[in-house]
Amino acid sequence: MTATAPLPKLEAIPPSVVAVADYEPLARERMTESAWAYIAGGVEDEWGLAENTAAFRRILLRTRVLRDLSAGHTRVDLFGHTYGFPILLAPVAFQKLVHPEGEAATALAASALGAGMVVSTQASVPLEDIAAAADAPLWFQLYIQPDRDFTHALVKRAEAAGYRALVVTVDAPVNGMRNREARAGFRLPPDVEAVNLRGMRSPPSTPPQGRMLLGSPLLAGAPRWRDLAWLRSLTNLPVLAKGIMTAEDARRAVQEGVDGIIVSNHGGRVLDTQPATISVLPEIADAVGADVPILLDGGIRRGSDIFKALALGARAVLVGRPYVYGLATAGTIGVAHVIQILRAELEVTMALTGCATLDEIDVHAIRRLSPLEMMPAVPAFRPEN
Ligand code: FNR
Ligand code: LAC
Repeated sequence: MTATAPLPKLEAIPPSVVAVADYEPLARERMTESAWAYIAGGVEDEWGLAENTAAFRRILLRTRVLRDLSAGHTRVDLFGHTYGFPILLAPVAFQKLVHPEGEAATALAASALGAGMVVSTQASVPLEDIAAAADAPLWFQLYIQPDRDFTHALVKRAEAAGYRALVVTVDAPVNGMRNREARAGFRLPPDVEAVNLRGMRSPPSTPPQGRMLLGSPLLAGAPRWRDLAWLRSLTNLPVLAKGIMTAEDARRAVQEGVDGIIVSNHGGRVLDTQPATISVLPEIADAVGADVPILLDGGIRRGSDIFKALALGARAVLVGRPYVYGLATAGTIGVAHVIQILRAELEVTMALTGCATLDEIDVHAIRRLSPLEMMPAVPAFRPEN
């Protein structure tokens, strides 16, 4: 069984695809229902998944007109490298589920555009092969494994392959309750696996039958705060903590020496009824200050979403599902197109709000929806009725 239908050779992107949302139905047609459940789904009732996108709609833009935009650009410096725009590809596991070349095809798109790409520990292509496929600025997403020697070796492999930063995902010591996946009977097909974890002495990934989670060996091997200091001692690469959702944890992560914070709820895939990431960004930005870059992911579907994240204190954003839908639909070209659409929308948003550079995007460029505006956008009284 393969997870995907054969991919059509697309000479070009269908002309009807003008926004990243347009890729969603096309991607779905090219996947099995169970692969779709894995990629598009969240946990439990998927409230958090929906809230990640909905929360952006409750923030409005304040336009300032007639400003000088002649020297405008979207460049941003992150850990000693200048990126042309503040959009990175979020770590997404098992990309061979949707495209035969998987992460290598994605890396080619990132490379063509100079976009940052974060490669998952659970990538379906060896991390060295992804690095060899293209010269995109790659970061490595690390799941600290119960086998710390294996984890150490993985970090060294990422360094040797030229990865420029380590992104430690801290929000998923156990899997959440993926009801949608379970209903669809999702299982990885035999030709898709976490190849970078081959050879690991793997502990049980779920508690043994009849035993509860708390107190189980699974949690005994889970990462803790002290592991961040341990990682710091292993590598000179910048270390970012991904999955921070509170001011307290952001402060603690900075104390432990991280170089960056990624505000993330894992795209609503770990614990349901967490707030949207954009909703907690202000408290985290407040707690962390300007010295430690903050990135955000979750629910970014428009350039204006990126703008709002930057206005509330993010230095850059990551996108997850949208580029995976591009990959499923049209491979490398689809991924590149998704990034280009978001870039173009961000630039138009900047021009029309009067912001020439990312530094000019601040809280004055947005405002919160007032309670009155939260009423449905349908007139309650229509004279013709
Ligand atoms: C993810 N995400 C993720 N995160 C991570 O740290 N390691 C991983 O291996 C994965 N794998 C993964 C698989 C799939 C199919 C999805 C959709 C997501 C989470 C990802 O990095 C990011 O936090 C979210 O996807 C951001 O939300 P949006 O952009 O998908 O709304
Ligand atoms: C996921 C894991 C791989 O979100 O992080 O599916």
